Amino acid sequence: MTDADIDKLIAAAWKARENAYCRYSGFAVGAAVLTEAGTIYSGCNVENASYGLTICAERVSLFQAIAHGERRFSAIAVVTDTESPTPPCGACRQVIHELMPAGRVFCVDGSGRRTEFAGQDLLPGAFSAENLDL
Ligand code: THU
Repeated sequence: MTDADIDKLIAAAWKARENAYCRYSGFAVGAAVLTEAGTIYSGCNVENASYGLTICAERVSLFQAIAHGERRFSAIAVVTDTESPTPPCGACRQVIHELMPAGRVFCVDGSGRRTEFAGQDLLPGAFSAENLDL
């Protein structure tokens, strides 16, 4: 993954953020996920009057990619117009752990400052497929 790939991914996340449906919190979030083959899928947060039904931008972008048949991801970017980068919530960490444990996670704030996590470090001791006695 080149620096240009990462910049492109972050740009896609900013573009998706423009569509955030966040009438309750006013907190707009954009995300974009990069597949190993180089395709980008993006998403924004989508809120609901029944607040608990809200879904974060990270999961929208990942589920969008999955619904298009993608299974292998190398990175996800999350962008917010804030003073420091916004980290993924617990639910998104669980989903990232499931779908892209080896991926890179970039969180970007309003001035372009970035923090990076490894997907597998976001949720130590995560519940996973191995815990299902199938
Ligand atoms: N949100 C995200 O979309 N991603 C995050 O990483 C943090 C939180 C959304 C959920 C909700 O619509 C709003 O931000 C406030 O929590």
